[in-house]
Amino acid sequence: MKNRIIITGGCGYIGSHTVIALIEHDFEVIIIDDLSNSNEQVLERIKKITGVKPKLLNIDLKNSFLAENAFRYNKDIDAVIHFAAHKAVSESVQKPLMYYQNNLCALVNTLMAMEKYNINNFIFSSSATVYGNPKTLPIKESNETQRPFSPYGNTKKMAEEIIDDVVKANPNLRAISLRYFNPIGAHQSGMIGELPNGIPNNLMPYITQTAIGKRDKLMVFGNDYPTKDGTPIRDYIHVVDLAEAHVLALNRIFSKEKDHNLEIFNLGTGEGYSVLEVIEAFQKVTKQKLNYEITERRDGDVPKLYANVDKANDILGWRAKMGLEDMISHSWQWEEYYHLEKKN
Ligand code: UFG
Repeated sequence: MKNRIIITGGCGYIGSHTVIALIEHDFEVIIIDDLSNSNEQVLERIKKITGVKPKLLNIDLKNSFLAENAFRYNKDIDAVIHFAAHKAVSESVQKPLMYYQNNLCALVNTLMAMEKYNINNFIFSSSATVYGNPKTLPIKESNETQRPFSPYGNTKKMAEEIIDDVVKANPNLRAISLRYFNPIGAHQSGMIGELPNGIPNNLMPYITQTAIGKRDKLMVFGNDYPTKDGTPIRDYIHVVDLAEAHVLALNRIFSKEKDHNLEIFNLGTGEGYSVLEVIEAFQKVTKQKLNYEITERRDGDVPKLYANVDKANDILGWRAKMGLEDMISHSWQWEEYYHLEKKN
């Protein structure tokens, strides 16, 4: 029998790519998603790519009654991968309570339902934002975390602390937290990708939307950082590579080697690129001229953030396969596909 996995937030950007990876590795997937920042249409695209249309439970996990019912009526769940969360940094600064309520209540309700129905395998979608502005680079998992600059980031840090407490109290629970660096790119089919609500916060969707003509120009937030060209450096990671890491994390959770503690893994390539390098690579790969302008720094941006990924290499056997050019060409392919689809 196939292992049956609940993926909360499975219609979203990283969630949907992970659903594809799991189906391709012969897992059975049930998605829980409130569709607050995603679209049901993604299920048909997953079907086109994999031949399987996953079951969707359209449920808001903030509601503890609904969360419990989801687990009551879907039996024999082997593991949960928890993506469901709001993720816009600037929105979280404006609406901190909305972020704390949504991201933390959904997590607690999920963990409570899991405990009630004796589901003991859990993977959490975390973020490099928990490192704040690190003193040493590349960052290892053993580096200390700091209070993140945004309520969004703080929900990730608090969530890891909650999971750590729950793992300590429940010796049966096996949990892994995956700290993503900067996920970009899209599925190679061009049919699934990032679909930000409104004006994008993040660099890559802003670049592709500017190149396709949806935005006037890209603002580069500051060129006076202590980096090679003055713009901040990040560790960009292809979303399909990221999705594969979840499959390996599941294998790890099901294996005997997994120890009882909450295990944490960085997921990046280990290589850093500046904003200007990304722009230059975009223009080269896509042959599109990008309209951009250097403006003021954005609050909360750190100069440099890139990962040491030895732990994921050694323990999960995971390594990013795709480089910046693949990330850019797949992001662009997705933007073009989506643009054409909307026109037709
Ligand atoms: N940037 C611009 N112009 C834009 C958007 C971004 O110049 O329009 C710059 C930013 O200043 C930054 C870089 O591009 O230097 C990357 O910015 P992103 O917003 O794409 O990514 P961040 O590194 O700020 O944030 C990402 C995720 C967060 C996560 C964080 C962890 O979006 O969810 O990494 O470090 F918390």
